[in-house]
Amino acid sequence: MQPSTPQLRVGMVGVGMIFEETYAPFFEQTAREPLYDSTTGPVQVHLTALVSRTGQRAARYLERQASLFTTCRNLSGSDALRALIQMPVDVVCIATPDHRHFEPARAALAAGKHVLIEKPSVLNLNELDELVQLARQQGVLAKVVYHKLLDPDHKRLRTLVHDGVLRHVNNGYCSLLEPKSISGSQFAEWITGRNPATYVAIHYWKLIDFTFGPNWFLDRITATGQRGLVGPADGPTWDSVQMQVVYRYPDQREAAFDIHTSWVNPDNFPGYVEQEVQFRFDNGVWNAHQRKRGVEVTIEGRTPGEYKTTPNHHYNAEFLEPWGQRRRRGYGIEVIERFFREVAYVEYGGPRHERPQRLRAMQQLEYNDLAADRRCVAIVQALEAILEHGAQGRSGCLVRVNGPMGGLVLYEPGRPEATILYGPTV
Ligand SMILES: NC(=O)c1ccc[n+]([C@@H]2O[C@H](COP(=O)([O-])OP(=O)(O)OC[C@H]3O[C@@H](n4cnc5c(N)ncnc54)[C@H](O)[C@@H]3O)[C@@H](O)[C@H]2O)c1
Repeated sequence: MQPSTPQLRVGMVGVGMIFEETYAPFFEQTAREPLYDSTTGPVQVHLTALVSRTGQRAARYLERQASLFTTCRNLSGSDALRALIQMPVDVVCIATPDHRHFEPARAALAAGKHVLIEKPSVLNLNELDELVQLARQQGVLAKVVYHKLLDPDHKRLRTLVHDGVLRHVNNGYCSLLEPKSISGSQFAEWITGRNPATYVAIHYWKLIDFTFGPNWFLDRITATGQRGLVGPADGPTWDSVQMQVVYRYPDQREAAFDIHTSWVNPDNFPGYVEQEVQFRFDNGVWNAHQRKRGVEVTIEGRTPGEYKTTPNHHYNAEFLEPWGQRRRRGYGIEVIERFFREVAYVEYGGPRHERPQRLRAMQQLEYNDLAADRRCVAIVQALEAILEHGAQGRSGCLVRVNGPMGGLVLYEPGRPEATILYGPTV
């Protein structure tokens, strides 16, 4: 590669499960072959630093990939984020635990870096407002990863809705069941006080909001759940959560969605996780299952542990291409590549003086821009507040959106006074 080839230098904050599943294959691919687009020409993506709590997993990864990432630094400990921000990086990707996204995102944006954050972007609207404002001030992109929007089945769903083939969704349900290894070992360090809905229901909230909106209004949110397996039955950590969100159309018809999540299910699922949806329209019903897409495989002694019985190859899998190349691909990786293409377009997709127009065009993409994440963050903030009250024995709360008292207002049964969670309009 010529030294003059444009490049994007990347700092990765959080080097856990999702880094290894989706970011690592992308960085490995782009270390071998630059991104290419006719507007930008080749753009090299250069993994410059990994930041994590202990640096151990990162060290093992860099050792395995020593030939690809010769200069990548492994930063850990309390000063690591500051060290990263001072480095000459153009992009910061954030895959830390759900409640630790805001601080690195704010630091990176304040330093003028483009930012990509794993879902859920942040846990409340004040944080979201601050990040969106910083991104606008600094003239950079701030985006969030919602890979389910790139699932071919969900793209098809949205196409049918957009084209008016499926008309007016009325209600639906989604169920996302994670194996207990997630809550029991994978996330043990940060599980206290967390819940499986913030972690995974958010995928479907974005799918619903993006696919069936934007011409409707978020109206109210309720939730309940169970405790006692991951943590004590009277503690703040949730095993499973059932929530309901109601939207209102301009003609006052309502649409209601129930999402059930749990991370205490058997580890020997035939597929890694269990995810299904049903959406009911004025003129149709859409049923989908993440892993029951036709493939079922049994390998003696190896399924369903090492290999899955009903795998979702669309998300992320290693393929031996017919032409001999071996690569990991799927929508889990595609969504990250797409973000880097957007950054490359902003920085290198035309003359410098037209950068503001390119930036604006990429900021207007509602599938991933932080500014378009308001309704999802509002749902998360409401959910977190309802569960927090529930953990204190104050169950049955409801959060109303954009009512007379404010943007997000929590009502508790038997208490006349309401709690304003967020004053401005959502
Ligand atoms: N896109 C998806 O479908 C998907 C799937 C899984 C996880 N996620 C999201 O990705 C994020 C990370 O999940 P994971 O499964 O990789 O978690 P993980 O526990 O496997 O890894 C977390 C990483 O963050 C690091 N970390 C923790 N606190 C930190 C801090 N304060 N500063 C710097 N680094 C810190 C840890 O050292 C570790 O490297 C979560 O927000 C999760 O919801 C997304």
